[in-house]
Amino acid sequence: MTDRYAVFGNPLSHSKSPLIHMTFARDTGEDIDYGKIEPALDGFAATVATFRAAGGRGINITAPFKLEAHALATRRMPRADSAGAANCLKFEGDEIVAENFDGIGLVRDIERNLGVPLAGRRVLMLGAGGAARGAMLPMLEAGPAQLTIANRTRSKADALQSQFAPFGKIDIKNPADVGHSSFEIVINATSASLRGELPAFAAGAVEPGCLAYELAYGKGLTPFLQFARSAGAGRLADGVGMLVEQAAEAFAWWRGVRPETRPLIADLTIPLA
Ligand code: ATR
Repeated sequence: MTDRYAVFGNPLSHSKSPLIHMTFARDTGEDIDYGKIEPALDGFAATVATFRAAGGRGINITAPFKLEAHALATRRMPRADSAGAANCLKFEGDEIVAENFDGIGLVRDIERNLGVPLAGRRVLMLGAGGAARGAMLPMLEAGPAQLTIANRTRSKADALQSQFAPFGKIDIKNPADVGHSSFEIVINATSASLRGELPAFAAGAVEPGCLAYELAYGKGLTPFLQFARSAGAGRLADGVGMLVEQAAEAFAWWRGVRPETRPLIADLTIPLA
């Protein structure tokens, strides 16, 4: 029997999730159907209940429901727990199990697809919102020599530092002051690019030749990527690889089979230049 999955979000018109999961299903021979469900903004829990009652096996969650998905769970895996947000739920009998694969998707894309090991590297992450929080545990587990967070609102960065102190050392800097040292990997985890804005930071932070990584995808050369390039970044990437990698993690968690990601990333990549 065909097992049902879906992505939940609002709005969802541009979601690539169904295409990604149906490609994985075709490639692995798994018999699933993967749809798109757009609950009303106050209707997430009720819509999940209806989907479960109809036999749904799991869902992916995107904005603005990741916090509600976390709250709805009866059991939370460590990454969802520390992020305070879930991007994936699995329905197992009476249980709703929450996971968060966003951060591991980012780490896998940087390390495996872009070929840049994080261990021993100096990493700067801009932003201290939900996206940055979701990335924190997998980033620390990857063992960078230095992980620096710079956020426009300092107090949010300080809160992240306190929360993740048990898992590793995080430095906090103001964006204007990060240029006193340079970084081999600079990641934009702010939401500034969604509005075409530059998250301002000191150009001196960009080590010549470094990797500049934009979490948003399909936005072309965002102000962040343009700024990083003019400051000397040698490689630019957007979040398309992260999107596919987090989906592959979800698929493997649900189905027990890990799909190939590289051909799909190549298909979905829009050249940045
Ligand atoms: P998300 O879930 O996408 O992370 P969020 O939790 O609302 O969204 O967090 C947005 C992040 O982007 C925050 O770190 C925010 O900075 P503040 O904490 O100062 O609000 C950051 N951000 C958004 N627009 C920005 C801009 N124009 N310049 C710098 N930082 C920006």
